[in-house]
Amino acid sequence: MAFLRPIDLFKGWPSPELIPVDALKEATVRALSNKVVSDAGFGYGPDEGYAPLRENIAQWLTQFYGPRETITSSRICITGGASQNLASILQVFTDPLQTKMIWLVEPTYHLVFRSFEDAGFYGRMRGIPEDESGMDVFALQRALEEFTLSGDTDSDESYVGKPARSYRKSYKHIIYCVPSFSNPSGTTMTRSRREALVRVARRFDALVICDDVYDFLVWNKTSNSQPIGTSLQRLVDIDRILDDGPLDSFGNVVSNGSFSKLLGPGCRVGWAEGSEAFIYGLSQAGQTKSGGAPSQLMSTFVNDLMETNTLQQHISTKLVSEGRRRYSLMVSIIRKRLTPLGVTFSPDPERATLIGGYYVWVKLPVLLDADQVCQKALETQNLDLGNGSLFAVPGGGSRDADLYRSLRLCLMWEDGEYLVEGVDRLARVIEALLKSEESRL
Ligand SMILES: Cc1ncc(COP(=O)(O)O)c(C=O)c1O
Repeated sequence: MAFLRPIDLFKGWPSPELIPVDALKEATVRALSNKVVSDAGFGYGPDEGYAPLRENIAQWLTQFYGPRETITSSRICITGGASQNLASILQVFTDPLQTKMIWLVEPTYHLVFRSFEDAGFYGRMRGIPEDESGMDVFALQRALEEFTLSGDTDSDESYVGKPARSYRKSYKHIIYCVPSFSNPSGTTMTRSRREALVRVARRFDALVICDDVYDFLVWNKTSNSQPIGTSLQRLVDIDRILDDGPLDSFGNVVSNGSFSKLLGPGCRVGWAEGSEAFIYGLSQAGQTKSGGAPSQLMSTFVNDLMETNTLQQHISTKLVSEGRRRYSLMVSIIRKRLTPLGVTFSPDPERATLIGGYYVWVKLPVLLDADQVCQKALETQNLDLGNGSLFAVPGGGSRDADLYRSLRLCLMWEDGEYLVEGVDRLARVIEALLKSEESRL
């Protein structure tokens, strides 16, 4: 193979040009030049995290989502990002003997599996398929009913690994999903599915963990005066108001937010939102009680970026305009080079009403599978792709054959000619494989 520059359409990172390095430098200098802020930043922070940042996040979320009730800072705690916080949630709100099963939308974000295993749920993860409206909540409901009927619900009363404490509870089930602009499929769950999911969670004593990490990255243009975020309707907002509100003080949904895709993954700052009781409980995790909230110093820098409106500006003027441009570039090259080969993709602007996030999910022609395409792409084209099989729930007995002929393409890492060239190289691989498959028939 003549030298080909590597092209990585797998990596789900923002490219270095999308990181606001200068703005972060200035924010850092400002924060460290203010004694009150720097003293707070270098100390062990409060359990719930840096108070000014909680305050600013609460206001920002209220403005963006426009929920019926204002989001107060008591509903927010600071985290070390969505992954760190998933582990914390499982520490406080599950117990491997009391919590029965983890139900995950499938395809699902592949790096969550290890966190569930670490928390004691090896072999107890099940995939629930999704369609264009998001997770198939009716399939989930059936699976939960069957599970309950099978009698596998007895709790081991003698188990005292996690003592009863007023700040925590062990949910019977965990449901994991990425309701908006899902990783990997880009799918956004409809409002009616979201409501149905909250009802199912309440009925089966389940906690829905929503990774809401792409919500601010909406590629649609607003057609009215309402902020675009109001069309997203997070599950955590629905849980607050649906059918007179939650069944107990903890509620059934937590929203896991992150600055990784908005500023840069290395910042390791995020937030969680849930009911006040839930958030207080989360902040009482042993690791936090010992060291204070994670990412305390970085929280003071991020807070400066919010206080000065720099972060909000960066999202709207840089990330959203770049993402919109790259998405439309990717769609046009997919239509030109892949669609004629029998490839379909989502989210497709002709069918999806809400489009955003980092990924386009591509379905290969029936004769091909993702393993052979990924292998050939790497060997002959120096092209990295997200193999659909990675996103199948391990041991979950996936019935979705489409997963094994799907690919995840990221649009926020490579740009311009390389984004176009990447899709073009993929087209060459598909053409070559189709030719050899057809000659074998
Ligand atoms: C759905 C989802 N959740 C969580 C993460 C990781 O978030 P963080 O960097 O905040 O841990 C990612 C990153 O790709 C993601 O796609």
